[in-house]
Order: sequence, then structure tokens, then C-alpha cells
Amino acid sequence: MATLLDGKALSEQLGPALRARVAALARPPGLAVIQVGADPASSVYVGSKRKRAERLGFHQRSLSLPADASQAELLALVAELNADPAVDGILVQLPLPGHLDSTAILDAIDPDKDVDGFHPVNVGLLSQGRPRFVACTPLGCMKLLEHAGIKLAGLDAVVVGRSNIVGRPMAMLLEKANATVTLCHSRTRDLPAVVRRADLVVAAIGQPGFVRGDWLKDGAVVVDVGINRLPDGRLVGDVDYDAALPRCAAITPVPGGVGPMTITMLMHNTVDSSERRQARA
Ligand code: GUN
Repeated sequence: MATLLDGKALSEQLGPALRARVAALARPPGLAVIQVGADPASSVYVGSKRKRAERLGFHQRSLSLPADASQAELLALVAELNADPAVDGILVQLPLPGHLDSTAILDAIDPDKDVDGFHPVNVGLLSQGRPRFVACTPLGCMKLLEHAGIKLAGLDAVVVGRSNIVGRPMAMLLEKANATVTLCHSRTRDLPAVVRRADLVVAAIGQPGFVRGDWLKDGAVVVDVGINRLPDGRLVGDVDYDAALPRCAAITPVPGGVGPMTITMLMHNTVDSSERRQARA
């Protein structure tokens, strides 16, 4: 029977150590979360981040801009938060409405407050193997694998999806952990055959049940980053879970796998940032 990589349980397990680090600081870590518009999925994620930050004793600021906010307004808000000494972390919830230039906005965040790890400086540091802020979802996947005692060195790892938020940084982290990494995408030839060679599969495509059970090698480890809502309201991942379960050695459930770890890693990055910034002050 497959081991469940339980992100909810691991998040709870990591809570006390984070809380102790918060308590040791002279001032609480400050996290600012910006949401533009009211996309329902984004509202759920932002609400979870806010609640977790409050429970950990952070100084938490939720900033909402209307869906028709201008690029200049959003850039002005980012500049204000960059200059605010009580703010250690700035997160702009993605996706932004189509009229906004997301890249320019993410580039405007002070790299020292970039707890999402999306700024080119932080992506560059990760690509050179000297990470500072690492994107929360891939970092959470790595922590799940580490806590399950899965040894990555020498494994054939296949990452499906090359987004800046998940696939690309995930590939870099796995390579840093000495896995042999293949990064697949919509133009990959014979994806099922590539996945079938994998000891470790990370699915980050955003399509329900995209990775079929019969694509998996027996005994593979499966990390499912997808969170897709079906018309009947159920949340499912990018992997056909029921078909994958009997074949794999370990798998992340959806919900309760990667999702909670993303939020925990955001808290972790914010505490790191606050410790660094307060040590410098
Ligand atoms: N939207 C989906 N995932 C993320 C994330 O990790 N950070 C931000 N800012 N937006 C997201």
C-alpha cells in the first residue's frame, strides 16, 4: 500500500518550531498579502494565508485592490510596502487580472522581501545552487519528500509543467538534490513514455487527472501539485489518484498534500526574512 505524503500533518508538526522562532524575535514578522479583484479561488488561498499568519502571531496586512486597479496603483502599493520597515514579506496573489503586467509587478518587489521567491534575483540565486527565497510550492514538495525519508540522489525525476511558480523551480531543487531531472511540457514527445521511466513524478499542469495511473512505473513516488475543482465541487489533483494509488510507493493526496505545505513554506520564508532583516537592523 502506498505511503500517503500528508502535508496537513507535516504542516501541523512544523508549527511549534515556527512559533518558537516568532516568539524569539523582538518584533513579529510582517507579511503583506495583496489581492487584486475577487477571483474566488484566490480569495480562498489568500484567506488561508491570512489565517495561518495570524495564528502564528505575525503582523499581517491584507491589501485588496479592485479588479480594475491600474498598474501604477499596484506599483505604488508595492513601493510603499518595500519602504515599510515592519513588512518583511510581500506577496502579490497570482493570477492578476489580464490588463496588468505581472512580470513588471513581481520585478518591483524588493528581493529581500520576496517571500514568494519569484523575483529574478531569487530565481537566479536558486539556479546557481545558492538559494535565498525559494518558491513556496516547490519548497513544500521538497520538505514532504525529505520528511518521508525519500532519498533523491540518483533518482530519475520527471517534472510535468514548466511554470515559473512550480515546474521550473522544482526542477532546480531536484537537480540540487542530485536527482536526474527531466522537465516536461506541452510539446514533450510521448509524455507517457517519459513518465514511465520516472522514479519520482511531480505533476504541475493544472488539469484534473491528466497523469494516468498506467503511465506510472511500479513503485514510483508521486507528488501532485494540482488543485482542480470539478463541476460537482470535488477537488482533485493532476494525477488520476485512484488509478495511481495501487502502483506507487508514495503519493500526495489532494486536498491535504502539497497545498498546506505551500502555506507553511510561505510562513517559513517570512520568518527567515524577518530574522535576517532584524539581525541587520
Ligand atoms: N497563485 C498560485 N500559487 C501562488 C503562489 O505560490 N504565490 C502567489 N503569489 N500566487 C499564487
